Amino acid sequence: MGRRSWRRRLVAAACLGAALLLLSCAHRALSSVFENRTLSSGWLGGKRKSPLQKLYDLDQGPRSPLAELHRQRRDLLRSACKRHTRRQRLLQPEDLRHVLVDDTNGLLYCYVPKVACTNWKRVLLALSGRARGDPRDIPAHEAHAPGLLPSLAEFSPAEVNRRLNAYLTFLFVRDPFERLASAYRNKFARPYHAEFQRRFGTRIVRRLRPRARPEALARGHDVRFAEFLAYLLDPRTRREEPFNEHWERAHALCHPCRLRYDVVGKFETLAEDAAFVLGLVGAPGLRFPAPPPGAQAPAARKQATRLFQDISPFYQRRLFDLYKMDFLLFNYSAPSYLRLY
Ligand SMILES: *[C@@H]1O[C@H](CO)[C@@H](O)[C@H](O)[C@H]1NC(C)=O
Ligand SMILES: *[C@@H]1O[C@H](CO)[C@@H](O)[C@H](O)[C@H]1NC(C)=O
Repeated sequence: MGRRSWRRRLVAAACLGAALLLLSCAHRALSSVFENRTLSSGWLGGKRKSPLQKLYDLDQGPRSPLAELHRQRRDLLRSACKRHTRRQRLLQPEDLRHVLVDDTNGLLYCYVPKVACTNWKRVLLALSGRARGDPRDIPAHEAHAPGLLPSLAEFSPAEVNRRLNAYLTFLFVRDPFERLASAYRNKFARPYHAEFQRRFGTRIVRRLRPRARPEALARGHDVRFAEFLAYLLDPRTRREEPFNEHWERAHALCHPCRLRYDVVGKFETLAEDAAFVLGLVGAPGLRFPAPPPGAQAPAARKQATRLFQDISPFYQRRLFDLYKMDFLLFNYSAPSYLRLY
């Protein structure tokens, strides 16, 4: 990003504050004030360079191939936003629920379930000093415990703005259909998620399976992938309540066209992208936990291919439309196993 785009970032952040206050978004004059605050007078009074400052430095100097890749992803996201979004409604505090705050290191991380978010939460707990020792040793239920990592939604508009101006903002995304296949396998195809099956599985069976057996109606334990997809495509589903976060579109969780993300990490290159972020944080010795073998890219692709091959082209197309923005904004192409045309 050049100086101009950094200025735009600051303007955008200033606008967000205005949006939160439900005012108009025309406060360009604020940008110079923010610029000073962000890049010169230090970050929360700290002496060490902030991750955002380090990214800025990387962008000014001769770029490493990795820094260049991340710049291209940012640019692509920005131009896709311009091309594909129309007038947006104003951001509300609850839109920031998924953005977790690390005040110790100056980080904002928007978590997308099924994209290594447990491991990112573990790492943030370790980084912010809320947990000691190796992040791998933090139990998953602890990493997900509500309130352990504060969310940006909990702060006042001024406090939100201050963080958006000065912190490195990042998210991790994944091929939308592989994420969906992973959510299905994890929540419906395995015996140990009885709670999810009771909550959503019973609803799916009741609504979509004619002549369901009483056991299936009571337990929701044997939902097929096609039924799960039909549930997602059923307009009643989203009329009743927003999608559950495990299958909600990443753009609807993280609002990448309204918040400015500095780093777009990808599940497909998780190790490299996580190392890039941790390099900016300057946490020597902290290694991002390796994903379990089943979650690695080729295995995930195989599973998605297998699940989608039984889905009719009609449903494939409609599902692709439903998840289209995630494909466009994060530069995923339509998977080759689909029969869209
Ligand atoms: C920005 O900082 C410089 C020097 O640090 C100062 O002279 C200038 O007035 C500041 N600008 C604003 C808009 O605060
Ligand atoms: C977008 O995807 C295309 C095709 O996979 C790839 O060639 C290109 O490098 C990607 N661009 C970015 C910025 O990731």
